[in-house]
Amino acid sequence: MLKAVLFDLDGVITDTAEFHFQAWKSMANSIDIDFDREFNEGLKGISRIDSLNKILKYGGVLEKYSDNQKMALANSKNAEYVELLSELKPDAIYPGIKELLDTLKMEEIKIGLTSSSKNGPRILDKLEINHYFDTVVNPALIENGKPAPDIFLSAAEELGVKPEDCIGIEDSESGITAIKDANMFAVGVGTEEVMEKAGADLIYKHTGELEFSGLLHSFKQTIS
Ligand code: BG6
Ligand code: MG
Repeated sequence: MLKAVLFDLDGVITDTAEFHFQAWKSMANSIDIDFDREFNEGLKGISRIDSLNKILKYGGVLEKYSDNQKMALANSKNAEYVELLSELKPDAIYPGIKELLDTLKMEEIKIGLTSSSKNGPRILDKLEINHYFDTVVNPALIENGKPAPDIFLSAAEELGVKPEDCIGIEDSESGITAIKDANMFAVGVGTEEVMEKAGADLIYKHTGELEFSGLLHSFKQTIS
């Protein structure tokens, strides 16, 4: 029985995945590394420090930087990202999300945020949707980041529901893997090829197609 829906944030609730891309690209360019959108797919859902390590490895300079220098690079990326967030207004919420949150509340289905981003609470505040969430998992307290299932299992535990009674919504390959390994129903939003490869149970191209009755129908069909 469906008891909770767990939302990723960047790229699911709003377009901050694009801000992450821009800020990482700008940091990478400052140390003469460049990458494209295909490489960026592998950064989605991954923590700040893991993303930095991936970029440095891709540039062949992972060993060149000390921990302190890496911290400085991660901080400079975050500063640029936070600057981009200043543009964020409530109308930046993706189509269909607010309607889905309202319906979930009406249906008394719990709502959780399962984002790897330490900026998550700040973004929920800016979008003025904080009050919808029954739990916002703190990624700093999660030992193994996505693609490990930990953040989704933690959300289920905080909400007092079983993993098999949860739907997780994600835009990243690492996130879909995490949901599936948590034994939950995985809804992928975004690049069909990536979502299919990751094993999403249900795929939507845009959040505008996300709708409660459709979700519930597919969820019930899969578990029966
Ligand atoms: C994820 C994003 O939600 O959060 C990643 O998909 C990002 O791109 C990660 O690196 C960590 O975010 P932050 O805001 O803590 O640097
Ligand atoms: Mg995401």
